[in-house]
Amino acid sequence: MKLASVVIASFLRPALAALALLLLMGWAEEAAAHPFHRTLSRPLQDPKTHGAIREVSQHAQRKQPEEDTSSRLMPRVNTNQNNVEICCLHANILDFYLHNILHHYDSEHPSMHQLKTDLHRVSQDLQAQGCNVTHYHDHQHAVEFRKKLEKMEGERGINKAVGEIDILFTYLHDYCKAPRRSASSSNSNSASNRASKSATAAPTTTAAAAVN
Ligand SMILES: *[C@@H]1O[C@H](CO)[C@@H](O)[C@H](O)[C@H]1NC(C)=O
Repeated sequence: MKLASVVIASFLRPALAALALLLLMGWAEEAAAHPFHRTLSRPLQDPKTHGAIREVSQHAQRKQPEEDTSSRLMPRVNTNQNNVEICCLHANILDFYLHNILHHYDSEHPSMHQLKTDLHRVSQDLQAQGCNVTHYHDHQHAVEFRKKLEKMEGERGINKAVGEIDILFTYLHDYCKAPRRSASSSNSNSASNRASKSATAAPTTTAAAAVN
């Protein structure tokens, strides 16, 4: 009887340890698979929002005069900055769109109303996650963006800015993520291409590093 319980105990101990190890491994795998590609705001991952962004930006691009198609308002991402900085800089630019640009386009496209609601949500989420939008007001890229826009004046500037909303959205989508792994499959839609093509030489590597 005593011998039996000793045998059982000596068998159980490693078995329990092994079980604990298996549970731990399972947990680690689960953790690796899920929370790290969490976006900071739902609409950034929503295919419907993506679709509306594409429609609206293409709609505005078609209104542009030929000579405006080769230039660009949205500054190239400086990949020496960390993801949080890049995310919050673009949250600042998004805030500028919400206050100064999008309402001029309200009656131009039927998706605008819903899109503005979704982008408001993104802006609120990013600020709730710690983006201090005011802090980036004087950032060189934010200033550069506003200066270029001012030069374009009125409707021409509005069309140009709305035409680039896909680039803004792509940056937010790519950089506003919880840190660590992100397994997002950035399928190469035209917006990502537009965004990465016009970024400086290094971004593909850095973006890839951030994704892996
Ligand atoms: C946000 O940034 C501005 C400008 O840098 C600063 O004055 C303000 O205190 C910051 N707000 C918070 C909540 O950190």
